[in-house]
Amino acid sequence: MKKIAVLTSGGDAPGMNAAIRAVVRAGIYCGFSVYGVQNGLKGLIQGDWRAMSLGSVADIIHRGGTILHTSRSREFMQLEGRRQALERLQASGIENVIIIGGNGSLRAGHELSKLGINIIGIPATIDNDINGTQSIGFDTAVNTVLEAINRIRDTASSHGRVFIIEVMGRNCGEIALSAGVAGGAESILIPEIKTDINLVVEKILKGAQRGKLYNIIVVAEGAGPAERIRSLLSERLATDIKVIILGHVQRGGTPSAVDRLMASEMGKAAIDGIVAGKRNIVIAKLSTNNNIAIPIEHLWQEKLPLKRDMVKLAEILAT
Ligand code: F6P
Repeated sequence: MKKIAVLTSGGDAPGMNAAIRAVVRAGIYCGFSVYGVQNGLKGLIQGDWRAMSLGSVADIIHRGGTILHTSRSREFMQLEGRRQALERLQASGIENVIIIGGNGSLRAGHELSKLGINIIGIPATIDNDINGTQSIGFDTAVNTVLEAINRIRDTASSHGRVFIIEVMGRNCGEIALSAGVAGGAESILIPEIKTDINLVVEKILKGAQRGKLYNIIVVAEGAGPAERIRSLLSERLATDIKVIILGHVQRGGTPSAVDRLMASEMGKAAIDGIVAGKRNIVIAKLSTNNNIAIPIEHLWQEKLPLKRDMVKLAEILAT
């Protein structure tokens, strides 16, 4: 019987548990033995894994964090660390490793694949900074930020204050951009675009002329820190400016429906990839950024097709 190991690595992201559940259940359905690695890549080096059963992933689809725990492993960055992991895997007869994680974790997985282990990546990071795919956890994080913006808006409007809300994302502005647009922020500062403080000031002053008494500025941590933005604004404005750093609250919480669905589909797709003999791949879901225009008749020319894959997925995962 073929053996698969699954692990979560790097920053936890809501939906990781849903992905573990899908990997374990779809893996067992396809006749594999599935092993859960503890503490991410550290556990791979230490050979710290245990056999997973259908029941071991019951009651986790709605839980944030990761039941397998996670880590950022410096040791694994060294060839020696990866060689140790390889030896442990070979000794247990495990040929395939599914890594649920972000950029750094998938890169580490790629390095391990060069030693002969088949690596299947599932993109999971709140940062949504993986090229070519959407990431599990991002949607939930954006909704968490959105809820915070809504609440801050109440107090900001009541007092007529400027609020600077710093969000996570490392060097990527995806969380800030999405939450900022959805939250109706007056200014959104992201690392990909050099901050022009004059534009921010101008917007606040123009808004004030129209009678707008408060402002929400969303700043990605990579374009911050928020305190720097505050001091730049304070030099130019006499307004009361508050700073909120949302921090790790963005990583927790029950995953959204979008993240649970993506995690379920990606977990199953990872197993399908192994069944199909694919090697060293990442399961990717393209973002649907672009709207297209379709002729209005299209809406009633055909019936909406049933998502047969989803029906099958439900059957496999809900055991
Ligand atoms: O990659 C996810 C992330 O939450 C980033 O947005 C953030 O910069 C970083 O991890 C924080 O890492 P840690 O939890 O190790 O402080």
